[in-house]
Amino acid sequence: MIRILRVTGRLLVSDQRCFSKIFKREFLTEEKSESSQQDPCLTKKASLYIHWPYCLKRCSYCNFNKYIPKDDNSHIVTQCLQQETETLLQLSQVSCITSVFFGGGTPSLAHPSTVSAVLETVSRCVGLADEAEVTLEVNPTPEGRSKLKDFSQAGVNRFSIGVQSLQDDDLKLLGRDHSSHQALQAIEEARRLCPGRVSVDVMFGRPNQTVQSWEAELSELLMLCDDHLSLYQLTPERGTLLFKQLQGGELALPGDHDMAEMYESARGTLRQHGFEQYEVSNFARHSAVSHHNMNTWKGRQYIGVGPGAHGRFVPLGEGRVDREARTQTLEPDVWIREVRHRGHGTRRRIHLGRLEVLEEALVMGLRMTEGITHKHWQLFSPQLALCDIFGSCADVRDFFHRGHLILDDRGLRCSWDGLALLDSMLPALLLELEIQISSS
Ligand SMILES: C[S@@+](CC[C@H](N)C(=O)[O-])C[C@H]1O[C@@H](n2cnc3c(N)ncnc32)[C@H](O)[C@@H]1O
Ligand code: SF4
Repeated sequence: MIRILRVTGRLLVSDQRCFSKIFKREFLTEEKSESSQQDPCLTKKASLYIHWPYCLKRCSYCNFNKYIPKDDNSHIVTQCLQQETETLLQLSQVSCITSVFFGGGTPSLAHPSTVSAVLETVSRCVGLADEAEVTLEVNPTPEGRSKLKDFSQAGVNRFSIGVQSLQDDDLKLLGRDHSSHQALQAIEEARRLCPGRVSVDVMFGRPNQTVQSWEAELSELLMLCDDHLSLYQLTPERGTLLFKQLQGGELALPGDHDMAEMYESARGTLRQHGFEQYEVSNFARHSAVSHHNMNTWKGRQYIGVGPGAHGRFVPLGEGRVDREARTQTLEPDVWIREVRHRGHGTRRRIHLGRLEVLEEALVMGLRMTEGITHKHWQLFSPQLALCDIFGSCADVRDFFHRGHLILDDRGLRCSWDGLALLDSMLPALLLELEIQISSS
């Protein structure tokens, strides 16, 4: 059963695990990527992720980069977000930002003027595309709901609401600071403000959850939600309270079989309700896909601003035409000092060589139901086609024979069944990619 990776506006913890190999090799590869990184669509355009690092309390399952604020320094954080946005844009070759995603932490705790300030910085420095998608993650507390209108006036045109569960007991158990009723009220208000552009995050596989109760909960949600849903399998992360509770036997998660059934039944139910699954965890109807996240899965550039944010972009100059992976300093106070001192808080820069770029394109691309088209792959690998790489390996051919993976005139993609098995197929695919690249 695939771990339903959590994918919001950034490259996430789970995704990074897939790339541990990549990061271990950092700076070892200095060869030029064969990718046509000069292609304007891969160098001149990017999406922007802004990380707001504060939360009012810690949810029991969450290991995202978030802190409980000691005092109100939102004015300083806003200035630093603007400064870092400006610096990283100047360091890139980007001339147009196509989408902006405010994630966290709890960005709905920020003042709406933070959103307008960052958008104004983007417009001043490079330009924000007409119709750019601007998403804000919202914790559906009464305070979060009351600010939605101001956020939309500040430029947000898409809300992503962290509903997580419609069971109040579960919300308490998970340490959430809102009720299911408050979450539904927030959805209603967000839909009024941004009709057709409201997403909800829900987690399944929660302690003591049954397949039947999950099905009932999803049906209730479907009566009130808008056109986009992200379904994440609750993942016990080391260092969280939930992890300790599970280790100590105080709580138990549903077994693998039930988890798989919850995922399959949700996929089926959503299909019946007109939602198309377009990625492992994401479902949309009326084409309301998240353009920001699609950008990431399609291997396009993104700039990550704020504590702990990740980015992938081709830097300006230095004689290099290849992409870099950048990670910003995690701790907000340290990040603030660095941004004030040198304009940005980049903690780590990793040059991505040819193999690393292709590994990312493969892992990200196969998460989408449309998979990787030949044209898409050619952007990154003009010399070696998908068939050259995956056409002759016995392990990979086995995936084709079992009907889990498809390679045809459209490109490479998972079948309906195969999408749930993607994690188990990736090691063989990545190994074959490495063999073919190193022998080419
Ligand atoms: C880190 S949160 C930020 C948004 C907002 N603070 C919230 O909690 O609603 C983004 C999403 O990641 C998902 N998430 C966080 N931790 C998770 C975990 N351990 N397992 C599965 N999903 C998780 C949740 O569904 C959440 O809505
Ligand atoms: S509110 Fe969101 S970011 Fe904050 S602890 Fe909870 S899940 Fe994590």
